[in-house]
Amino acid sequence: MGADVINGMLKEDALKGKTIIITGGGTGLGKAMGIYFLQLGANLVITSRKLDVLQRTATEMETKTGGRVLAVGCDVRNYDQVEAMLKQSVAVFGRVDVLVNNAAGNFISPTERLSANAFSAIIDIVLKGSVNCSLALGKYWISEKLPGNILNIVTTYAFTGSAYVVPSACAKGGVLAMTRSLAVEWGRHGIRTNAVAPGPFPTKGAWERLLPGEMAQKFDFKNRVPLKRVGEHQELANLTAFLVSDFSGYINGEVITIDGGEWLQGAGQFNALEMVPAEMWDNIEQATRSAST
Ligand code: HXC
Ligand code: NAP
Repeated sequence: MGADVINGMLKEDALKGKTIIITGGGTGLGKAMGIYFLQLGANLVITSRKLDVLQRTATEMETKTGGRVLAVGCDVRNYDQVEAMLKQSVAVFGRVDVLVNNAAGNFISPTERLSANAFSAIIDIVLKGSVNCSLALGKYWISEKLPGNILNIVTTYAFTGSAYVVPSACAKGGVLAMTRSLAVEWGRHGIRTNAVAPGPFPTKGAWERLLPGEMAQKFDFKNRVPLKRVGEHQELANLTAFLVSDFSGYINGEVITIDGGEWLQGAGQFNALEMVPAEMWDNIEQATRSAST
């Protein structure tokens, strides 16, 4: 992979004057996206449950980029907290232009081992949290007659489903349905709604919960990806910066996959033939050509 991949893609000031809220923006992919949005001139609000983590990240981001970051403690499961977070953001920056629904919770487990509460915990963070934030921002944009932009971070198993992460798959599938529904319903208010479906992008939060201990070696994600590598955070930042910018102004209701081809590799019926050694293909061709009709 060339060094240019880890550089930013958009021109300087591409997000100048925009205020962007990223839920779960203190860690992992939310943090990576936030740094790039700041480098492109945006004001940033990062929000999640752990205010100490957010404040540390905000200081680091401001030092690195010279941008302005507001850290607000807010549990996205609680609608009143979401409204208060929005109010504080508007008070500080004057208005909010973009919402990135990035906060999530997840863990692996055979479904029958889960308590009802464990199932709900994930649905509440991912689906209800994204609903709460979209609802609060949508009401605000429509009543203030402002354009808006919602970007939902889903996963590729939002469309395929996946064993062992069933609460997350149900919740992300719901967020994808909300993306397509609101794109149509709120389009006439000038509110765009899109989603991104990332494949494997290593983060502490995801890897500790999905690939604990030796599983990271045993279940090496890069072997599942046709490009034979995991994603670079800047690659996701480049795509999401485009989607939250005005350069993508005619994209609405879309989900863009960024996974190196991972989910399609799992889907194609004959994809496992990559295991066939090159020298075997002469014999296979002979056999298939001479097959009786
Ligand atoms: C089974 C579990 C469990 C586990 C918790 N529970 N962990 N059950 N296996 N590993 C159960 C608890 O016993 C409890 O049920 C219920 O879930 C709620 O647990 P709490 O700890 O009270 O919940 P909460 O504090 O809300 O924490 C939520 C959390 C936690 C999801 C459990 O891990 C968290 O805060 N995660 C946030 C960050 C995160 O998950 N990041 C990864 C996103 S990655 P009972 O019945 O005992 O009360 C991602 C990537 C997708 O989405 C694709 C990657 C390739
Ligand atoms: P992460 O670092 O664990 O991020 C999750 C964030 O959500 C944390 O900052 C967490 O902060 C916040 N959060 C959790 N519960 C919350 C709540 N109730 N209210 C508010 N915030 C809450 O993991 P990540 O890998 O960067 O994941 C970011 C997004 O990318 C998620 O939507 C995930 O599903 C998606 N994704 C990741 C991958 C990957 O390979 N990493 C692949 C596909 C999709 P607090 O603990 O402070 O609340």
